[in-house]
This record gives sequence, structure tokens and C-alpha cells, in this order.
Amino acid sequence: MATYEKHYCWSILLRLFHWMFALSIVFLVVTGFYIAGPWTNTMVEGSAAWPMAYMRYIHYIAAYTFSSAVAIRLFLYFFGNAQERIWDILPISKRNINNLFKTLLLYSYVSDEHDERLGHNIMAGTSYLITFFAALFMILSGFFMLYPEAAFWQGWGVTVFGSQQWARFTHHLIMWWFLIFPVIHIYLCVWNDIKGPEGLISSIFTGVKFKHKA
Ligand code: HEM
Ligand code: HEM
Repeated sequence: MATYEKHYCWSILLRLFHWMFALSIVFLVVTGFYIAGPWTNTMVEGSAAWPMAYMRYIHYIAAYTFSSAVAIRLFLYFFGNAQERIWDILPISKRNINNLFKTLLLYSYVSDEHDERLGHNIMAGTSYLITFFAALFMILSGFFMLYPEAAFWQGWGVTVFGSQQWARFTHHLIMWWFLIFPVIHIYLCVWNDIKGPEGLISSIFTGVKFKHKA
């Protein structure tokens, strides 16, 4: 019978980042869709109710939560524990490149070999970094739309997007990453939870993973 040992893996700060990020995205996507195409009768706006104003207000509260989460993750990429640092999740060492290929083979049902490591597998880690850059893009385009006349946001916004309309269009476009990524992400987390020994899903709540005893 296989025996397992517990390993502490994710700090409280990383878990806080994860749930701030995941929950704020739910609010951002719903209110973002509303801002893009209001589904209520906007004739009531300003008379008895202010649905657009409320939706935008919720969007901005969620946006600040989202931006704080991203700042936490940026900090952890450099000052987090061994699993949280940026060089542990990228295909930049022999061990990590190996893990990337083994994960690809495992996910495509070509091999059964589960390359045990404590942190993210490299395929997951790379997709998280892409998500991190997509998040920076949402923050930049979002704050540029929110504060178009503030020198800081205007400087960056005009340099990167050229105009408000381009910022808005690309802000909308990149939103789709935040709809597609979680679907694949949650599917793969559940798949790993069933197939692997780690107890992956509970690890994002408790910080603890399980490994086979050597
Ligand atoms: C994953 C994160 C986010 C998602 C999915 C998201 C989604 C959206 C969507 C779909 C729109 C409507 C765009 C359109 O008119 O077609 C929008 C508008 C907007 N978002 Fe975001 N957003 C996110 C993050 C942010 C952040 C971090 C900010 C920063 C303040 C922000 C500020 C804004 C602003 C100012 C608008 C324009 C509101 C208006 O035109 O009245 N968003 N967002
Ligand atoms: C029910 C919902 C969710 C569950 C159960 C869940 C579960 C998990 C688990 C178990 C991990 C660690 C996986 C590993 O070791 O590779 C993780 C990481 C991550 N999840 Fe989720 N997740 C959920 C929703 C989301 C959503 C909506 C997003 C946002 C798009 C998201 C973004 C991330 C990111 C960026 C990481 C990497 C954390 C890091 O930077 O180290 N998750 N999630």
C-alpha cells in the first residue's frame, strides 16, 4: 500500500492571491459584459435606478481587488517560497524542461508517468505566467480608461494602445482569456486531483500537498 507524506507548499499569501484573483474575475467578467452590452432597460437609468453606475462601481471595486492580487503575485514571484518563485515554474532548467514534456505526454494520455514535484508542473506554471501578463494588460488598459487624463496612465496608455478606443477593444478581447483559461484550468485541476496523489484542489485552500513516501 502506498504511503504518503504531507508537504507544506503554498503560503497563505499565495492562497490569498488565488482567491482574490479568481473571485474578482467573476465580478469583472459579469459587470464587464454589462458595460459592453447592458441587458436591462437603460431608460430607467437616472430616474429610479442606476444599473450602469452600479455595474461600473462593482467593476472598479473588483478591479482594485484584482490589481492588489496581481501585486501580491508579483512580490511572490521574487520573494515567495521555493515553489512560488518565477524560476521554479518556467522551462529554464533541464529538470523543468523534462517536466514540461512529461506533463504533455501525461495529459495527452501517451504515458502514465506522473513526474512528482512539489510546485506547479511546468505546463501549468507557464500558463499562469501568461495569465499574469494578461492581467497586467487588463490593469493597464482598465486604468487608462478610468483615468484618461492622469499623466501616468495617459503616458503608458497612449504608448501601448494609441487611443482609448483601442484600449477598450483590447480590454474586451483579452477578457476572453479570463473566460477560457478558468474552464481548462478547473478541468485540469480536477483531472489531476483524481489521477495524482497530491490532493491538488485542497492544496489551494490548505497550502498542503501529498507526495508518495520515498
Ligand atoms: C480580468 C479582468 C477584467 C475583465 C475581464 C474586464 C472586463 C471588462 C469588459 C468586458 C469591459 C467592457 C468593454 C466594452 O465596452 O466593450 C470593461 C470595461 C472597463 N473596465 Fe474592465 N475588466 C477587467 C479588469 C479591469 C481593471 C483591472 C480595470 C481597472 C480600473 C478595469 C476598468 C474598466 C473600465 C474603466 C472600463 C470602461 C467602463 C466604461 O466604458 O464605462 N477593468 N471591462
Ligand atoms: C473553483 C475554482 C478554482 C479552483 C478549484 C482552482 C484550483 C487551483 C489549484 C488547485 C491551483 C494549484 C494548481 C497547481 O499546483 O498547478 C490553482 C492555481 C491557480 N489558479 Fe486556480 N482554481 C479555481 C479558479 C481559478 C480562476 C477563476 C482563476 C483565474 C483565471 C484561477 C487562476 C489560477 C492561477 C493564476 C493559479 C496559479 C497560482 C500561482 O500563481 O502560483 N483559478 N488553482
